[in-house]
Amino acid sequence: MELSVKFIRRALLPIALLLFAWCFVLFPNASSEVISRVPRVNFEFPHKTRSPFNETKVALLIEGRPLPHLTPLLLHYMSVVPPDWRFKFFGSDEAVQHLNRSHVVRAHVNDGKLDISTLPEGMSMKGQEATSQTFTNLTFYRDVLYPAEFLLVFQTDAMICANSKQNLDDWLEYDWVGASWNTGDRFGGNGGLSVRRVSKIIKVLENQIRIPHTQPEDVWLTQRLGLLPGAHLANGTEQQKFSAEMLFSERPMGFHTGNGGEWLHGGVWGTPELRKKMWEYCPEIKMMLPMDEERFIDPKMCPSKQNWKRDADTSDNLPGVFL
Ligand SMILES: *[C@@H]1O[C@H](CO)[C@@H](O)[C@H](O)[C@H]1NC(C)=O
Ligand SMILES: *[C@@H]1O[C@H](CO)[C@@H](O)[C@H](O)[C@H]1NC(C)=O
Ligand SMILES: *[C@@H]1O[C@H](CO)[C@@H](O)[C@H](O)[C@H]1NC(C)=O
Ligand SMILES: *[C@@H]1O[C@H](CO)[C@@H](O)[C@H](O)[C@H]1NC(C)=O
Repeated sequence: MELSVKFIRRALLPIALLLFAWCFVLFPNASSEVISRVPRVNFEFPHKTRSPFNETKVALLIEGRPLPHLTPLLLHYMSVVPPDWRFKFFGSDEAVQHLNRSHVVRAHVNDGKLDISTLPEGMSMKGQEATSQTFTNLTFYRDVLYPAEFLLVFQTDAMICANSKQNLDDWLEYDWVGASWNTGDRFGGNGGLSVRRVSKIIKVLENQIRIPHTQPEDVWLTQRLGLLPGAHLANGTEQQKFSAEMLFSERPMGFHTGNGGEWLHGGVWGTPELRKKMWEYCPEIKMMLPMDEERFIDPKMCPSKQNWKRDADTSDNLPGVFL
């Protein structure tokens, strides 16, 4: 009795398999149809999992103030800079905590795209001179930023425009690119939005030390980078396509303003027509320019109403106006 139960149990699987195979013999057409319907699955695993990031490409923002637009600005840059770039933020404790409150920022920290921390001991970002000292410090480029070789420096008053057709990676052949100071310059441009070749800067800083309270870091560095053997810096006219600060340029990749967006140079922003052009080409500038604040917050410009529609006539009987 027990033996036959065991036998049936053991025979069950072979018998089922046999029946299954028999179906294919009985209904050959149906079987080929069934087989053709089985989805094809490819098991092609890469030999080893590769990081989506290129460790040598680093976009760097240093900012001590916990500015309200710090988080959206940083996230905007992450969307316009090619995806294999990593981001590095250095700030005060306050600024780091401010950023670290954002869920999206924390997700980027967790997936390795972004690193946020305070500046190492002895380095400062309080004011122009301190910033110039940090950006001409050998330890900073050689050790703190390691293994960065292609460095994008951006400040909170600079913008890369999502409407630009240019790719940041197209500028990596140069040792330095920034906003032109003069179209006729052989090299040199503003560092507030700039691409820098780290190994070349290290070469300069291994041989020379900037004397505090002299030239700003971008002037000091480019004057020396341009004289290195084999130097390859973008010239005054080439840089106009990259970024505009003082000189007008048709649809540059980005902008640098000055003093936190308070200095708008005449060549780029000097007339209503120019400002309208920039406003439409690069609407992201609204994030960093305080120009709309007065209208938005001033109670005379925007009387207290439950629902306020910007730019709409405030007269009570116009349709489409919420009062
Ligand atoms: C990282 O980017 C640089 C510059 O485009 C390139 O030369 C290098 O091969 C890249 N490295 C990897 C591992 O893809
Ligand atoms: C950010 O916040 C998380 C969660 O509270 C914490 O674990 C992490 O250490 C913080 N990072 C920094 C740089 O403060
Ligand atoms: C660069 O920074 C390091 C570390 O903070 C500091 O020890 C060194 O003196 C600085 N170098 C210069 C030239 O300022
Ligand atoms: C800058 O480089 C471009 C392209 O190589 C060249 O046509 C132009 O004359 C150069 N401008 C100056 C000021 O050297």
